[in-house]
Amino acid sequence: MKTRITELFGIQHPIIQGGMHYVGFAEMAAAVSNAGGLGIITGLTQRTPELLAKEIARCRQMTDKPFGVNLTFLPALTPPDYPGYIKAIVEGGVKIVETAGNNPQKWMPLLKENGIKVIHKCTSVRHSLKAEQIGCDAVSVDGFECGGHPGEDDIPNMILLPRAADELKIPFVASGGMADGRSLVASLAMGADGINMGTRFIATKEAPVHENVKKAIVAASELDTRLVMRPLRNTERVLKNAAVERLLEKEKALGPKLQFQDIIEEVAGVYPKIMTDGDMEAGAWSCGMVVGLINDIPTCKELIDRIMKQAEDIISNRLQRFL
Ligand SMILES: Cc1cc2nc3c(=O)[nH]c(=O)nc-3n(C[C@H](O)[C@H](O)[C@H](O)COP(=O)(O)O)c2cc1C
Repeated sequence: MKTRITELFGIQHPIIQGGMHYVGFAEMAAAVSNAGGLGIITGLTQRTPELLAKEIARCRQMTDKPFGVNLTFLPALTPPDYPGYIKAIVEGGVKIVETAGNNPQKWMPLLKENGIKVIHKCTSVRHSLKAEQIGCDAVSVDGFECGGHPGEDDIPNMILLPRAADELKIPFVASGGMADGRSLVASLAMGADGINMGTRFIATKEAPVHENVKKAIVAASELDTRLVMRPLRNTERVLKNAAVERLLEKEKALGPKLQFQDIIEEVAGVYPKIMTDGDMEAGAWSCGMVVGLINDIPTCKELIDRIMKQAEDIISNRLQRFL
């Protein structure tokens, strides 16, 4: 399958693995890239630019295919050393960066001077248009269903994707709720040139996370995610657990008075405990509604091959029959 996204990134299949904190290590990115998709290392999971440089080098040893690095720009009192991370990306020969969070405008000249293609993750049409305007090569349009931060507009992909298609000139991938060949064909039908998946890729053999995380994803249904931190305008979709229930109780009790300090125990520093140690009650961790469609733990190659085969079958058989 050839799309503007496979052409832009030089990949075989129009499937991207979005950056994921404490999941997007070299093993994850290499497995997706080796299976013909685009794997992405999560920049900020590496505590320093030096560690990111090592992770890029490790990934390079595991694949000769293109892979990218995610740079998430979040408001912080002491911001991470972004110039250092970009230097590690450039010196590591990585040619694709997935940006997310705040507008990446400030970093665009540096990225573009170094021949890097930028795909920015957005949760709205207006942010997607801004990304196009500042010179991003593509966008990843994240609907309300998505795991992680869906923004504050709450527009599901059935509306968001055709809206993006109507307005954008640069190619985009559909993100949030994507799991199988049906997701891919539906996204193509709505104007996207591929898909981006987060949660689905965690439940794969190669995902370098504790088995408990994979089992929790397989066991959960589409009813099991919750939105947290809405009062802080930092909404995150997470899998429900005891810590999330506690957090939601605090949100209810404190109302508009809620501050980050009140929920720090449930959200700060919890990722290593969950992803590495498998302590599933340690805190709130991002997870999409798509868990309802995830029932197994295949290899990345099995998953991607299955998606492509199902997509082809839907296009050439099921859809043809309606004509
Ligand atoms: C556990 C987890 C951690 C994530 N961490 C990040 C991150 O650090 N930066 C980022 O840009 N997106 C992050 N995301 C969002 C994904 O890259 C992707 O956009 C999202 O998962 C798509 O929705 P889906 O889960 O329905 O496929 C994360 C998602 C998950 C599930």
